Amino acid sequence: MNSDLQKILVDEQTILNRIDELAGQINSDYAHLESIVIVSILKGAFMFTSDLLKRINVPHVVDFMALSTYGAESKVSGEVRVIMDLRHPVQNQHVLIVEDILDTGLTLQFLERILQTRNVASLKTCVLTQKEGKENNLINIDYLGFTIPDVWVVGYGLDYADKHRTLPYIAELKPEVYT
Ligand code: XMP
Ligand code: MG
Repeated sequence: MNSDLQKILVDEQTILNRIDELAGQINSDYAHLESIVIVSILKGAFMFTSDLLKRINVPHVVDFMALSTYGAESKVSGEVRVIMDLRHPVQNQHVLIVEDILDTGLTLQFLERILQTRNVASLKTCVLTQKEGKENNLINIDYLGFTIPDVWVVGYGLDYADKHRTLPYIAELKPEVYT
């Protein structure tokens, strides 16, 4: 294991087993629809999106958006930037957002507001991880993978300064690496 890492929090098989369950729920909840639009948030959600969508049998298209949150101060005011927007219109579409992690919820709240102004038919969220004790009222997660400790995590799409993103598991970063 890389020396930046403290320990593995969720191993690869546990992630894939949970994704099987989430996909099962999504397949059954959306079974009556002709098609849905998956909005995957780059970069963090790319691995989760890939493994999840291999298991989705509802007809769907996948589109990507890149968001970035400003520094700690502006984060309080909820300032998020759209770095790359969707390629396709989502008006009257059933949209499922796929995101890597929910911390304060500001990023997803911002995204939900943007998508609502585009008059989507429905909007739900599928989030791989949520930090313990950070459950809040900003966002309602429809499909949640795991609740994890409130530490900095990397792997399976998640990164620290773009490092460790492609690990097949979710690991805790050593505090001395990020403090
Ligand atoms: P908010 O507070 O807006 O944060 O819900 C969500 C965004 O913050 C980033 N984030 C992390 N990224 N490991 C990461 O790699 C973490 O432990 C972590 N905590 C927050 C992430 O970009 C997410 O979209
Ligand atoms: Mg992210």
